[in-house]
Amino acid sequence: MDNKLDLLQSKLAEAKLGGGQSRIDTQHKKGKLSARERIHFLLDPDSFEEIGALVTHRCSDFGMTEQSYLGDGVVTGYGTVNGRLVYVFAQDFTVFGGSLSETHAEKICKVMDLAVRNGAPMIGLNDSGGARIQEGVNSLGGYADIFYRNVQSSGVVPQISAIMGPCAGGAVYSPAMTDFIVMVQNSSYMFVTGPNVVKTVTNEEVSSEDLGGASAHSTKSGVTHLVASNDLDCIAQIKRLLSYLPQNCEDKPPMLPYKLEEEYREQLNRIVPENASQPYDIKEVIAGICDTESFMELQENYADNIVIGFARLAGRSIGIVANQPMSLAGVLDVNSSKKAARFVRFCDCFNIPLLVLVDVPGFLPGTDQEWNAIITNGAKLLYAFSEATVPRITVITRKAYGGAYDVMNSKHIGADLNFAWPSAEIAVMGAKGASEIIFKREIDAAPDPAAKLLEKEKEYADTFANPYRAAARGFIDEVIEPAETRRKLIKGFAMLEHKAVARPKRKHGNVPL
Ligand code: HXC
Repeated sequence: MDNKLDLLQSKLAEAKLGGGQSRIDTQHKKGKLSARERIHFLLDPDSFEEIGALVTHRCSDFGMTEQSYLGDGVVTGYGTVNGRLVYVFAQDFTVFGGSLSETHAEKICKVMDLAVRNGAPMIGLNDSGGARIQEGVNSLGGYADIFYRNVQSSGVVPQISAIMGPCAGGAVYSPAMTDFIVMVQNSSYMFVTGPNVVKTVTNEEVSSEDLGGASAHSTKSGVTHLVASNDLDCIAQIKRLLSYLPQNCEDKPPMLPYKLEEEYREQLNRIVPENASQPYDIKEVIAGICDTESFMELQENYADNIVIGFARLAGRSIGIVANQPMSLAGVLDVNSSKKAARFVRFCDCFNIPLLVLVDVPGFLPGTDQEWNAIITNGAKLLYAFSEATVPRITVITRKAYGGAYDVMNSKHIGADLNFAWPSAEIAVMGAKGASEIIFKREIDAAPDPAAKLLEKEKEYADTFANPYRAAARGFIDEVIEPAETRRKLIKGFAMLEHKAVARPKRKHGNVPL
């Protein structure tokens, strides 16, 4: 028996070394942790249980029989994060550049299946040169097996992808179909076709970093939700993200203990400027409403005219969607609509109540927007809110104009509670634009058209630039002092805790993708 135990120990020790110490050292020199170190820092101490450490590839072409590493370039298993079960895979760049073989894919699929069957989040730490070139179609099939599972798992358990090295070619589509992507600055990149192919096809010269680094995907494409400064920061961000999420679609998000106190927040009375065209930072409003430093923003530098993220309100996990008057006056456009719609759908999948803060002058006009399908893309957000059955509360802080009023979680599309601050202006459009249209004849005929326009503007503003018309119709449930917002929301979300909505039987709706 002793010999057999020795054999087992030596095999496990071999598996732990992956592609060897010198390759691990190379990872370190690049500022990267090894796959096992990443798992070590992600999971609670001693909680990791490995699955498939002794797996080897089955390829015999190109001399591969002689080159084989236990585990085959990916470490898989389960463990806990802050006491909660998660499943994990970490690609090991020291083994064939973390490339994905048939068996490597099978290992990932095995933990993905366990995650769904047992209802716990799936976390993928990606660091791979893509399809194992020596394996040809076997490797492509392995990718497709993972893609298929990404889709089957979608909306069942949260899926989080960290990109901690290369992620190129078709491989990008697995992270793309998970719920959240975190990229590590300067050591990760994602693209469908790399700089060489780009140069050949379009003659553009671009570096990997510029084409698909964390900065490009956090500002230009919106592919990544979070950017980390290094591997440890990436892991810390994943842990923080998990703290807002339930384990699966039938679970509720964790509720932190909270003792109700004086919830009046005086500073909220002083944020919206007197002048309606002067911007202010909606994040000040969010900070004033939510539990101290609880807001975790996502896609911060992409489509920043809308702000999305998780926060806590009296310990309760909530999702926030808020127009940002500091950027493009908070207007809705193609990118902000897509960004918010996907987030709303995530929250709805996973029972996370939604708080919507509205200050929106409408949709952004222009050929660029129309030709990039603001019609279809704006509809995504309208659709996402309309189908969401989680508790939904809206606070209109200032403008709620035109179609954007309807879209931004209005009462008409199923919001549960709609509040407005006294500064709210709920109308088809701003007073100036409206007056120029409906009083055109009168203004043109006046001896002093400019003075007439001002007079009519004031008349229109006095009638509509307030929340009282909407409140009289019940479209707004209450006009509230800003300082009372936190208290109202805490009570509102508690009241909605057991909300249940029956939907008509159907296979699935047809969201305007
Ligand atoms: C097999 C691979 C590999 C791969 C890297 N390696 N990528 N082995 N299949 N795809 C091996 C290398 O041979 C090397 O082995 C080791 O991993 C480390 O690679 P290096 O090149 O030394 O590392 P580095 O300089 O950091 O460059 C990393 C890299 C580069 C940029 C990822 O290796 C690279 O360009 N690899 C090929 C990428 C690629 O074209 N993949 C296929 C894409 S198509 P040794 O033994 O020398 O250490 C694809 C389709 C997916 O993925 C489709 C899904 C539907």
